[in-house]
Amino acid sequence: MSSPVCYQLADTIGIIRVDNPPVNVLSQPVRQGILDAVRAARQDASEVLLLLCAGRTFIAGADITEFGKPPAAPLLPAVIDALEDSEKPVVAAIHGTALGGGFEVALGCHYRIALASARVGLPEVRLGLIPGAGGTQRVPRLAGVSAALDLMSSGRPVPAGRAEELGLVDRVVGEDLEAAALAWCRELAEGRASCRRVSAQTVERVPDGVLADYRSMLARRARGQLAPQKIVDAVEAAMTLPFSDGVAREREYFLECLQSPQSAAMRHLFFAERAAAKIADLPKDTLQRTVSRVGVIGGGTMGSGIATSFANAGFGVTLLEVDDEALERGLETVDRNYAGSVKRGKLSETEAAQRRGCIEGTTAYSSLADVDLVIEAVFENLGLKQEVFAELDAVCKPGAILATNTSYQDVDRIAAATRRPEDVIGLHFFSPAHVMKLLEVVRAERTADDVLASCMALGKKIGKIPVMARVCYGFIGNRMLRPYMREAQLCLIEGAKPADIDTAMEQWGMAMGPLAVADLAGLDVGYKARQGLPVEQRGDPRAYRIADVLVESGRLGQKSGAGFYVYDPDTRQRSEDPAVLDIVAREAADLAVARREIDAGEIVDRLVYALVNEGMRIVEEGIAQRPGDIDVVYAYGYGFPAFRGGPMFYADTVGLDEVLDRIEGFRRQFGDPRWTPAPLLVELAKTGRTLADWAAEPARSR
Ligand code: COA
Repeated sequence: MSSPVCYQLADTIGIIRVDNPPVNVLSQPVRQGILDAVRAARQDASEVLLLLCAGRTFIAGADITEFGKPPAAPLLPAVIDALEDSEKPVVAAIHGTALGGGFEVALGCHYRIALASARVGLPEVRLGLIPGAGGTQRVPRLAGVSAALDLMSSGRPVPAGRAEELGLVDRVVGEDLEAAALAWCRELAEGRASCRRVSAQTVERVPDGVLADYRSMLARRARGQLAPQKIVDAVEAAMTLPFSDGVAREREYFLECLQSPQSAAMRHLFFAERAAAKIADLPKDTLQRTVSRVGVIGGGTMGSGIATSFANAGFGVTLLEVDDEALERGLETVDRNYAGSVKRGKLSETEAAQRRGCIEGTTAYSSLADVDLVIEAVFENLGLKQEVFAELDAVCKPGAILATNTSYQDVDRIAAATRRPEDVIGLHFFSPAHVMKLLEVVRAERTADDVLASCMALGKKIGKIPVMARVCYGFIGNRMLRPYMREAQLCLIEGAKPADIDTAMEQWGMAMGPLAVADLAGLDVGYKARQGLPVEQRGDPRAYRIADVLVESGRLGQKSGAGFYVYDPDTRQRSEDPAVLDIVAREAADLAVARREIDAGEIVDRLVYALVNEGMRIVEEGIAQRPGDIDVVYAYGYGFPAFRGGPMFYADTVGLDEVLDRIEGFRRQFGDPRWTPAPLLVELAKTGRTLADWAAEPARSR
């Protein structure tokens, strides 16, 4: 088999070219190939070596599929040592993304040149890891301790220009990287440049307390996570130990993280996210429809967020509202979105103005005649949505994609309001739509393949993570949220305080506890939806009575300053309100609910297993294509801790027999059919299979 690395002498320059599509990861043959090339160069007439990559990017990192398997020599640190130890200067030429192990390879070289469009970074923390091939030791030597901590603990890559400012890259060129790199190599050869080894440099010492402060900041920002803390430990080692000891320490921490369940969970999510983008029964070469102009109907929070998302990606957007006043409010929300981005330093004034300029407003449906895609984001009411779609059917050009942003309504029934149901699809954004990454793409019964393929691709184009769902009440995410929220409410009426519930879930890793989320979303939303239902369809009053009483006493959540909690008007800090505890006690007595102490363990198990049990039904019914899709939905749309891998992965790690035991225990304890275990859970637990096994079985594996 030919090597993915080729070495070739061009005059006095030894060119090492990596070609391992799609993203040049450092699989064993690549590591071997680089090592062989460095060894070959020792014997030949080369004076300077140039390391570069073919294809769309420089080395994008270690091969994540190799993690968790027995290590295969040569290991990356040995390859990087060989580069750094070379007696002939080595230049790395970076285009695309030099990430993780890829950037560590570049740091092992003596000089770095990058294309202005390139980005470099150490994203290992997003996989529950720390850089394991010298990155934690070399970056502080070049960029200083605090920049190193920021780069590695955020995992966020930086553009080449910023990398140059930080000292991580020596030169940046606008175009023709290879020619510029070769010219520089010749200069270095002529000038008999030295081998500038990063490991030989010293690390600045930071004042006492800086690292401790950083650790406490990370303990809050990356609650419960091991890797960010280990990054600080490794940087401390860089500061206090000689390079070789620092590297040994780094390796120790790296292996500890690699073996942690947290990293297994985060690596699972990495691949689950990429798998979610693939539709099993859709041919890869399905043609897509061209979309350049987008219409958005409804200028509320959702509609304006959706319009902002598309404008951010350079699409022309027409925002439609019922009258001038509503339109003005919608456009003001868009303005506020951009002002917020400028204030947070995410966009410059000019960029914001440019993007804002992509959005125009209208009150006439006829303005949507030419759009390629239209997304309806009006009030959650089936009849209203059907009216909108009938109107769209009348005005939109043939071939336009007609999408609904509904959270719950039946997309098939919405599609039936048109004469072109094959053009209709659900695009369910999450609030705030210009910030949240998740996009549920709802494939209705008659949605055409090219409409689905176009929307999956469009989702990616606007920076979202698209996950396909089939039609059911609440699709994937909100369908699972109902039993989760119900359990939170039941814990409350049975005796837990709001803060007991939210703190238990937050300490377990959820970004926000369920009652705090309800307060943020507004308690009136669910209230209005319940009022629209006949009493017998509202479900168990124990699970909504308190919320109803809160709304009826004017407590709508954060927006009214009070809901399950009271909120400080300036800081938005929540605190317990004795009035709420009184309401709960009164309603519990009224509904004859016996009250008791509920510990954090029970709260977590009830809420998380409620999610898991519904998730099992969702995969079994084919609403989600695979269990991993549910994990992606929960991690990106609902604040589920990535370091637990999503609810379905978590269930596998606990063990499905144990999950089933606990759910059956709840069924006995509460005597309630809500705890009937999903048939798939029973089947897998009885046969000793995991969800991952099930997903990989031939009938389902893709
Ligand atoms: N190891 C193994 N496979 C990888 C990989 C890695 N480090 N990085 C990417 N891939 C695979 C993806 O799984 C995907 O495979 P698929 O086509 O079978 O689904 C393929 O390469 C393309 O990746 P994708 O993410 O879809 O391409 P992109 O152009 O959108 O993004 C990157 C490219 C490099 C920015 C992105 O893949 C990335 O961030 N990779 C991880 C980088 C990283 O964390 N490196 C440090 C590892 S320690």
